Amino acid sequence: MSACLAEAGQSVLAIDFDPQGNATSGLGMEKTELDNTVYELLIGECDMEDCLVRQLQPNLDLLPSNVNLSGAEIELLDIERKEYILKNCLEKYRDNYDFVIIDCPPSLSLLTLNAMTAADTVLVPIQCEYYALEGLSQVLKTVNLVKRKLNPALEMEGVVFTMYDARTNLSLQVVENVKSNLNQNIYKTIIPRNVRLAEAPSHGMPITVYDSRSTGAESYRLLAAEVISRGE
Ligand SMILES: Nc1ncnc2c1ncn2[C@@H]1O[C@H](COP(=O)(O)OP(=O)(O)OP(=O)(O)O)[C@@H](O)[C@H]1O
Ligand SMILES: [Mg+2]
Repeated sequence: MSACLAEAGQSVLAIDFDPQGNATSGLGMEKTELDNTVYELLIGECDMEDCLVRQLQPNLDLLPSNVNLSGAEIELLDIERKEYILKNCLEKYRDNYDFVIIDCPPSLSLLTLNAMTAADTVLVPIQCEYYALEGLSQVLKTVNLVKRKLNPALEMEGVVFTMYDARTNLSLQVVENVKSNLNQNIYKTIIPRNVRLAEAPSHGMPITVYDSRSTGAESYRLLAAEVISRGE
């Protein structure tokens, strides 16, 4: 989605905030060879200028991550206001961008709290699978907790369905079930299960570059357009 927003002319900062570093390698960076990542930024070992990768694609900057970030959880424990570290790091930079997209790790952790404290809104991708609603209600609880305790301005951006398989009833049921149980913005764009989307990261390219005309790329373009129009 970051690549699609950038392609649409928005200036974008993508922050890989997951120690798995999939957003980093998926955008073509060799994650094991980085001296400075978002981890070094968080613990104060480098400045933004040292770790920010500028114009990885036109309009798209990246704060990369790698497995080092998994240590942050413990190392930041004793720091004062430890939930606000990312927010503080971004303070001077966020106004340079139309969108700052923070890709969170899958579990609730100090990293996720830092992301939600720095963010204005939370966009939740939901896989069209049986446990979708359960996972979602957990995320919504967390968002409300963060809103009460750490970031009163935090809002839900919305939920987006992904891995939709038109051949199965399950996908359709999950979408219907979430729609009828959820009082949230649900994006009209649904991202289908698409082989090209699965292949793109292994080539170190966003889908817009790997296969610009694929269903996956076109779907993310539609999603980006929706996100932009809501932002306006
Ligand atoms: N719509 C799709 N169609 C097919 N494959 C997809 C689709 N979306 C993602 N994938 C593939 O599924 C895998 C997991 O996707 P991704 O890394 O985006 O999930 P994630 O929710 O961020 O995972 P994690 O929770 O571990 O961070 C990747 O290999 C990705 O290429
Ligand atoms: Mg992920």
